[in-house]
Amino acid sequence: MIEPAKRSFDFEALPFDACYRLMTATIVPRPIAWITTISSDGVVNAAPYSFFNMMGSAPPVVAIGAMARAGQPKDTAANIRDTGGFVVNLVPERLKNQMNITCVDAPADIDELQLAGLTSAPSTRIAAPRIAEAPVAFECQRLQMVETGPSQFVIIGRVIMAHIAEEWIEGDDRPRVDTPGLGLIGRMHGSDMYARTSDLFSMPRQTWPLPGKD
Ligand SMILES: Cc1cc2nc3c(=O)[nH]c(=O)nc-3n(C[C@H](O)[C@H](O)[C@H](O)COP(=O)(O)O)c2cc1C
Repeated sequence: MIEPAKRSFDFEALPFDACYRLMTATIVPRPIAWITTISSDGVVNAAPYSFFNMMGSAPPVVAIGAMARAGQPKDTAANIRDTGGFVVNLVPERLKNQMNITCVDAPADIDELQLAGLTSAPSTRIAAPRIAEAPVAFECQRLQMVETGPSQFVIIGRVIMAHIAEEWIEGDDRPRVDTPGLGLIGRMHGSDMYARTSDLFSMPRQTWPLPGKD
C-alpha cells in the first residue's frame, strides 16, 4: 500500500488552539453529555460536554473532558470537585436549542435549566437533578478527577442509576432500547456542526477463522 501524502503537525510545538481545531475537526462524531450538577451553595448548573464517552462496564464508568476557562475550572468541573455527583443527560435533536442555551457562559449563580425553560427532576441517589425532558439520564458519582493541565480535568465517574424513557424501552428481563427512536445528536467539526444518529449501516461482527483466510 502506498501511503497517501500527509501533512504532519508537531503537537508539542503547535499552539494549543491549533491542536484543539485539528482534534475537534477529526475526532468525530462525539456524543454529547448534557451535564447537570449542583454547587455547594445549591445552584443548579447545566452544560453540554462532547469530550465524553463510556469507559467501562464492570463497574459502569464514564469520562468527561473539561477544559479550563480563563485559567479557572468550568462550573461543571468545580461542582463535581465540590459535591461529587453529576448527571449525564443525553440530547435528542428536539432539545438542541435548549442545549445550546445551556452552553452560554452564564455567571455561576444562574440556574441554566431555568434559563433554557427546562424542567429539573430529582435524582434518586445524588443531589444534582436530572433534566426531565431528556430521554436518558445517568446518575454518576465522581471516581477521580485527573488534572491534565492548569484547571483542565478528565472527570471519571461511576454510573449508579440510569433513567430511560419508557417510550423507547421494551422488555423486562433483558430490556432493549430503541436507539434510533431516541434521536440523539452528536457534535461534529467547527463551532456549529452536529450530526444526527440516523445514517446507519450494518456490518456483522466476524469470528475466527476469517472466511477465505485459512
Ligand atoms: C455541544 C457542545 C459541546 C461542548 N463540549 C465541551 C467539552 O467537552 N469540554 C469543555 O470544556 N467545553 C465544552 N463545551 C463548552 C461548554 O459547554 C461551555 O464552556 C459551558 O459554558 C460550560 O459551562 P459550565 O461552566 O457551566 O460547566 C461544549 C459546548 C457545546 C455547545
